[in-house]
Amino acid sequence: MTLMRHSKISRRDSAATEIRAALRSVEREMRSLLKQGLSPDLQRVVLYPVLTGGKRLRPRLVLLSCKACGGKLSSAISSAAAVELLHEYSLLVDDIIDHSDKRRNAPTLWKKYGTSIAECAGVLYAAALMASPVSQKLSRAFKELVEGEVADILLEQAGREEESYVKGKREKKATRGDYERMVVKKTGALFRLACELGAEAARAPSSIRNALGEYGAQLGIAFQVADDLLDIYGGKEFGKPKGQDIAAGKLGNILVLFALEELRGQKRKELLGILRKPKCSSRDTARGIALLKETGAKERAFAMGQEHAEKAQEALGKLPESAARSELVSLADSGLHRNK
Ligand code: IPE
Ligand code: IPE
Ligand code: MG
Ligand code: MG
Ligand code: MG
Repeated sequence: MTLMRHSKISRRDSAATEIRAALRSVEREMRSLLKQGLSPDLQRVVLYPVLTGGKRLRPRLVLLSCKACGGKLSSAISSAAAVELLHEYSLLVDDIIDHSDKRRNAPTLWKKYGTSIAECAGVLYAAALMASPVSQKLSRAFKELVEGEVADILLEQAGREEESYVKGKREKKATRGDYERMVVKKTGALFRLACELGAEAARAPSSIRNALGEYGAQLGIAFQVADDLLDIYGGKEFGKPKGQDIAAGKLGNILVLFALEELRGQKRKELLGILRKPKCSSRDTARGIALLKETGAKERAFAMGQEHAEKAQEALGKLPESAARSELVSLADSGLHRNK
């Protein structure tokens, strides 16, 4: 091995060690914000989601963005903790909305403690975020995420029969463009925020901050496309049940949308029928998956995810070369080609 290659690898190793140490501080800050002032019983409830696992991708993005701008990781810990708390909060609420009983191969918070306690826990996450030193910087992304989540709900083809708002505004059709506009909010807003906060912690100029923000938004879209793919093709590592987007009639899953574009005649009718069923049996879901697999939805979704991953990588062209930037480049690939 040449001396130069060796020094490059050790530079990467030491950057990775530094990030790992910083992530431990992030974990401590998250737990302290959550626990502060709560009785031991409620402390257990609010800590439950963060103890079930999770990839911690968003805090990693904050830290890597800070590092890629030449900043000190210690200045980005609070932002990284806040972004992950916001993520955990959104998942907790999303699982109540989606009636999902499993995440990270464990029961979801509402499944474990019941909906009323889960809703109270949501308020406690908001309270924890209010105590964060960066709380004011979260508001815009928070609102955007909720706009995206509502758009996703309105793309469901059935369910929520007693909810007049949803029933009145349901969308029966969607294009790839509609999907991208929904997802850049639902998932992209938080990824964008993570990268921007990292740049801000490093006091980077606005052109660099914006480039990292664009990277985050594009990565967020690619990441959500992967989540949609894993809903159909994921294994045990994914930690969520197979086909739950089909069972929930979600046109907001890009594979469902692409499959409906391609199928013709009786088969298209059959898939639509499954999506429009107020309650799907496991046989319905399996049939929906089988119909989808007859189309090019998987390949088209990968190609689309790839386009966004490449756009993310292009945005990084504005940043100087560094180990952290290389890591961000690789994340754009692994965000799409992941198994969990
Ligand atoms: C799940 O996000 C929600 C989506 C935006 C698809 P992650 O896949 O990052 O969830 P965890 O935190 O690693 O469990
Ligand atoms: C992303 O949507 C969730 C949020 C942005 C809160 P999904 O509903 O697809 O997320 P999962 O699949 O439940 O993790
Ligand atoms: Mg969900
Ligand atoms: Mg959802
Ligand atoms: Mg999903």
